[in-house]
Amino acid sequence: REPYVVTSKGHTAVAINAAAKAGEWIKSRQGLVKELNTKTSAQDLVTEVDKGVEQMIRRLILTHYPDHAILGEEGVSPGAAAATAALEEAREHEYLWIVDPVDGTTNFVHGFPFYCVSIALVIRGELTVGVIYDPIRDEMFVAEKGKGAYMHGVPTAVSTEDVFGDSLIAMGFPPDREFAQPVNMAGLQSILPQIRGIRAGGSAALHLAYVAAGRVDGYWEVGLSPWDCAAGVLLVLESGGRITDTLGRPYDIGTRHIVASNGHIHEYLVSSLKNAEATGYKL
Ligand code: IPD
Ligand code: CA
Ligand code: CA
Ligand code: CA
Repeated sequence: REPYVVTSKGHTAVAINAAAKAGEWIKSRQGLVKELNTKTSAQDLVTEVDKGVEQMIRRLILTHYPDHAILGEEGVSPGAAAATAALEEAREHEYLWIVDPVDGTTNFVHGFPFYCVSIALVIRGELTVGVIYDPIRDEMFVAEKGKGAYMHGVPTAVSTEDVFGDSLIAMGFPPDREFAQPVNMAGLQSILPQIRGIRAGGSAALHLAYVAAGRVDGYWEVGLSPWDCAAGVLLVLESGGRITDTLGRPYDIGTRHIVASNGHIHEYLVSSLKNAEATGYKL
């Protein structure tokens, strides 16, 4: 593949450059973590790299756009309630950047090479730019509202698979075990027998990028936060895919229970989750 050249301008170029710098930093620290702490549970990890990278991304954005608002995972108190409250406050701003400095912290900590940087820009409530960078594979996924989605200049497209039985589906296991585990088990039990295979790589954002790139046909997860999804959602939409919540309702940046797909198999995923009462909503 040709070396990556940033041809975008403005907001998108700022997002790409920040993601590239952040990714390099994260990759250089794999296996060298100094401070490993937990947040809401023993499975909810944070390191000095998550915090440092978020600070760097903030600085880079604010250098260009000092009056823009930034919602970053490590700037918010742990837990779903705090995330919802922070989003409610943040979404009042005309220009809102949503940043996940390391999506896949558990993978990063273990040296499992599947993690990324996720940066989105929401302008007046509308997802406008989404950038996801995987520093291990050097894959930069970029989406701009109404202008398509690209990976290193080549348009990305969702898969054309329309047979649920031939589909490869990704899912995720969020750290909030008490909430997510029963829901996940019920969803898995319902969906796995119907399809070709399940993948759970441990990075919500990268799974969304993989739906956009046609590498999996669909993905679902309950209990996510805005920074896990925002950039990936735009990538999927601009690659021709579909995004809803687990009940099949339209996506909003506050949606926590998410289904992404190539569109063709979407209803199968949603109805399987509904039938199994595995939507994350109390039915
Ligand atoms: C997590 C990852 C993981 C998903 C969790 C997320 P983090 O984000 O995306 O795949 O299952 O729900 O919280 O904490 O590594 O940024
Ligand atoms: Ca986290
Ligand atoms: Ca995340
Ligand atoms: Ca994170």
